Amino acid sequence: MRMYDLIMKKRNGGMLTEEEINYMVMGFTNGEIPDYQMSAMMMAIYFQGMNEQETLDLTMSMANSGDTLDLSGIQGVKCDKHSTGGVGDKVSLILGPMAAAAGIPVAKMSGRGLGHTGGTIDKLESITGFQTSMEQEDFIKQVNEIGIALVGQTAHLAPADKKIYALRDVTATVDNMSLIAGSIMSKKLAAGAESIVLDVKCGNGAFMKSLEDAKALAECMVKIGNGAGRKTIAVISDMNEPLGYAVGNALEVAEAVEVLQGRGEPRLTELCITLGAYMLYGTGLCKAPEEGHRKMEEVLKNHFAYEKFLSFVAAQGGDTEEIKDTKKLIHADYVVEINAPEDGYISSIVAEEVGIAALMLGAGRETKESLLDYSAGFRLLKKTGDSVVKGECIALLYANAEEKIAPAKQRFLDAISFSQEPVEKQPLIKQVIQE
Ligand code: URA
Repeated sequence: MRMYDLIMKKRNGGMLTEEEINYMVMGFTNGEIPDYQMSAMMMAIYFQGMNEQETLDLTMSMANSGDTLDLSGIQGVKCDKHSTGGVGDKVSLILGPMAAAAGIPVAKMSGRGLGHTGGTIDKLESITGFQTSMEQEDFIKQVNEIGIALVGQTAHLAPADKKIYALRDVTATVDNMSLIAGSIMSKKLAAGAESIVLDVKCGNGAFMKSLEDAKALAECMVKIGNGAGRKTIAVISDMNEPLGYAVGNALEVAEAVEVLQGRGEPRLTELCITLGAYMLYGTGLCKAPEEGHRKMEEVLKNHFAYEKFLSFVAAQGGDTEEIKDTKKLIHADYVVEINAPEDGYISSIVAEEVGIAALMLGAGRETKESLLDYSAGFRLLKKTGDSVVKGECIALLYANAEEKIAPAKQRFLDAISFSQEPVEKQPLIKQVIQE
């Protein structure tokens, strides 16, 4: 087999076989196929597309290119959750303990943030002492003992995807549905769960800006998951404004605690309950999502999920005093009020811009090497649709570097639009995709 022939085949609109895809993925991962040939192949795929079978074969090949997690030592049906990424998205911090409290074993690997969206691992590391790496044996033991463990993704998980994604990133071949879906799902499949719930974000702060694109991505990922024998369900949710009130690592942990204590922002709470309901349904622990919904409401109300979060933080070395009193989590020298420049209603809060403003304060990474300021970020006091009067405080800015305040504050204010007329909020849950 020759890579040259495969490139030509795809360039001319042909279909690659499983054997050809395996040859190309393995050859590229072990360095036998050079970057320039794989780049040409990615561009050929970008223009010619891949059918369902090719997409599944590519995903499986990338999933099997490195370590795969064996979760068979964990009792029960494991369910993983994945979000395609958004601003203020602290759902994993909340949903993990909720699912564990409802009886789903949660053995989760998460990533760090790059750019304007934060990563779950960074958020957890804002808790003093919290450890995000552990031996696989301890990981499995913790899930069996307390129902949940959450660690950073190892470099050996789907290494083919890592290498191919880095190449796509610099060759303008990221935004192809099969390649995105395959990339995300390869990591989920390698991480071992039998059932997967996907939170596909849609809107200005998300990868997929339109419902049409979000739907196409959700359908593609659901087909891959089910094709690989994992029960997969996707929930498409709104990302036209930051999720919840907080944007920034420690601020988001504090907000997660509010939700777990049953006093969270309604839309964020609703999203966690909905995703949890589909996790219960997907694992067969509930016969219908509505039953799952009730069970998830219950674990918030009776504080079982909050107690689970405390045990989880303690098990991974984190200081639970910072969870019991979240003021101890935030160490910001400057807390600055941001005031409404006019009377009216908030008509939009461009999520991506708020994410960038938080990044400017140190909450996110410009490059892989950037150091984070865990306490930096924003706490919104008003959301889309809320009425405001001129001069009223609409958000708090948290910073530790004085010179970062003015530009970040301006960027935040530029992200907000006002209207004289009342504004209707977009529905939070846009669609659920399952087979
Ligand atoms: N996230 C991924 O993991 N892969 C993609 O291709 C795009 C987003």
